[in-house]
Parts: sequence; structure tokens; C-alpha cells
Amino acid sequence: MKNAYKAVEVSAPGVLRVVERQMSDPGPGQVRIRVEACGVCHTDAATVTGIYPGLTLPRVPGHEVVGRIEALGGGVSKWKIGQRVGVGLIAGEDGVCEPCRRGDSVNCQNPVVSGVTTDGGYAEVMIAEARALASVPDELTSAEAAPLLCAGITTYNALRNAGLRGGDLVAVQGIGGLGHLGVQFARHLGFRTVAIGRGRDKEKLAKDLGAHVYTDSATEDAAAVLQGMGGARAILATGTSGDAMGSLVSSLAARGKLIVVGVPQDPIQLNAFPLVFGGRSIYGSLTGTPIDSEDTLAFSVLENIRPMIETVPLEQAAEGYARMMEGKARFRMVLVTKDGAA
Ligand SMILES: NC(=O)c1ccc[n+]([C@@H]2O[C@H](COP(=O)([O-])OP(=O)(O)OC[C@H]3O[C@@H](n4cnc5c(N)ncnc54)[C@H](OP(=O)(O)O)[C@@H]3O)[C@@H](O)[C@H]2O)c1
Ligand SMILES: [Zn+2]
Ligand SMILES: [Zn+2]
Repeated sequence: MKNAYKAVEVSAPGVLRVVERQMSDPGPGQVRIRVEACGVCHTDAATVTGIYPGLTLPRVPGHEVVGRIEALGGGVSKWKIGQRVGVGLIAGEDGVCEPCRRGDSVNCQNPVVSGVTTDGGYAEVMIAEARALASVPDELTSAEAAPLLCAGITTYNALRNAGLRGGDLVAVQGIGGLGHLGVQFARHLGFRTVAIGRGRDKEKLAKDLGAHVYTDSATEDAAAVLQGMGGARAILATGTSGDAMGSLVSSLAARGKLIVVGVPQDPIQLNAFPLVFGGRSIYGSLTGTPIDSEDTLAFSVLENIRPMIETVPLEQAAEGYARMMEGKARFRMVLVTKDGAA
């Protein structure tokens, strides 16, 4: 059928299946994108398992989306048909809630969330809000650009907004989709960079990505390693274990910050003593705005930062997702459509 397109939807918790959908026209303020590539982020698990608050099934996951605009809705003037654009997780703010009115749209209380409130990028076609788009530079392929729209922006924004100075000791905990980009950003932003991963097999990869030091938290006391280096000014916690995060607070220097970007299911256990004595802090950071995405893409081009990816055809989304969940991806699975492969 001419107006049909392929999508991969979560039809019931835990079930990802390829379906045919009927094309629809973009509404006012929206565009229709012919998807070329979409990264598989660990946050997609909240859609696949059905636990994301407010989610209803069926839903198409995917919020690291790159493609070309093929139709414009009413009132869209900034974007052109054929232009290559990206869409991330927070894909439209309501503009009226208190955070929005204070200019903090990423913390909108009623956001459009790709793959949660609206169908995402595990598909050949996606409808997106024009205000959520980021322009994608020609230097990046679609498959390279896709992971930068969530894993990239999340780690880049968290690091660049942390009030750090060149030469500061910065650790990145969890070397997966987010972490392997976090290591590259930390290095290229000028920090003394420590990668905290599990297992010796990631040591060479982490050093190739720019880590000055690698510590294997499965066999070493990562906190002691950081303390031995004088204590970290910041630790970017990207892992999916709350236990692993809490144990790192004691390795921060005075005034050091534990920046939580991973969203583990288990609680983070904290001891007040190192927080109070030394004025250490812990806070979270959520992805960023479309213009932050453009900054992330531009910085990646400037510093020659690229995600390390494994591509699979869209139709094999379930296999790609499973590989990510098993911790086998090196380091980001990216779904590629027939338009992306062409
Ligand atoms: N804040 C945001 O805006 C934002 C944006 C995107 C994603 N996220 C969240 O960030 C987290 C990471 O996402 P991702 O896509 O990078 O996932 P990923 O590619 O699956 O990587 C997760 C990493 O967590 C580490 N890990 C897993 N179990 C661990 C354990 N028991 N102890 C210590 N480390 C463990 C592993 O690294 P090692 O093997 O090196 O230990 C793994 O590679 C997820 O919770 C996701 O929901 C948040
Ligand atoms: Zn994500
Ligand atoms: Zn709002």
C-alpha cells in the first residue's frame, strides 16, 4: 500500500513487533519525517516494559531520531522539505507550566515525550513537533548523529553545565551508550578523565575514547582510586545501578558533585557525612533542549567526537534492543531504515 509504512511497536509489555501503519499528515506546528536512523537508548526500556508514567500501548519507542522532513504542517516556516533533522526525548513543551514560564522548558510538567506520549523513531516515518527539531550537520551520517540526540546531549549538557574548570578530575561511571560519549566529552572539554566500568575488556576501549585512567569497579575499589588521585570534582553517573552511585560520593573532592543521569530502578543509598563535611552535592540532569542538541552536534563535529555504534535494520529492532539490555552493545545500537541505508 502506498500510504503504509513500517514501524516497530510495543504491542504489550515486553513485546516489540513489526507492524504496518497508515501515513497521516502533520498537524499545525508539526512535520513528518522520513526516518533514516534511530538509536536504542536504555530509557526505551521504560516504554518496552510499559512502566513509563502516563504511557499507553501500543506505542512506537525511540527518541534518538534522524531523518529528512517530507511534509510540513500549517504554520511551520523555519524548516524545509528535504532538510535533515533530529528529535530527542523531550520533544515539545506546553509553554504554560511554571518551569516553562521560567524558561526551563526541559523540565516542562506536560511535555511531549518521543516514544512515550507520542510515537517515536523505531519506524520509517515519524510525526514531530517543529519546535522540537535540531538541524543535523552534513559532517555526520544519520547513524552517527542519532545517539548524540539523547546519549550525547545528556552527557555533554551535564558536564558543560557543572561549573567545572579545565584540568579538573572528572569521572564517568558506567561505560555504555551514555558513558562512552561522556568519556569523550569529558576529555575534549579539558578534564582529567577517569572511566569507571566493569570488567577489563572495556579498558582499552575506554582509553581509546580518551580516558586517562580506567578503573574496573568489579575488581577494584573505584572510590579509593579517585581518592588516591585527590578526589573527583565531578562524577557523571550513567550506570543503571543505584548501589554503584551511592558508593562513589565518598570519592568526591570537597565541593565535588555527583551528577546523576542514569535512572536505576534500585534506590541510591547515601551517607550524610561526606555530603555535610566537604559540602559535596548530588543532583540529577535531564537531557536538554533542541538548541542544546544542536550544540552537542556542533561540538562533536568540532572535536571529532563520534559515538561507537553497531547498526541493525529497523526490522531487527527487537534483537538490537535485547543486545543493549544484555550490556553487549559497543556502545550504541542504531536502527537503520531503508532510507538510511540507501
Ligand atoms: N538523564 C537523562 O536525560 C537520560 C538520558 C538517557 C538515558 N538515561 C538513563 O541513563 C542510563 C544509561 O543509559 P544507556 O543508554 O547508556 O544504557 P546502556 O548503554 O545499557 O549502559 C548502561 C551501563 O550501566 C552500567 N551498569 C549496568 N549495571 C550496572 C551495575 N550493576 N553496576 C554498575 N554499573 C552498571 C554498565 O556499564 P559498565 O559495564 O561499564 O559498568 C552499562 O553499560 C539508563 O538508566 C537510562 O534510562 C538518562
Ligand atoms: Zn535516551
Ligand atoms: Zn511546560
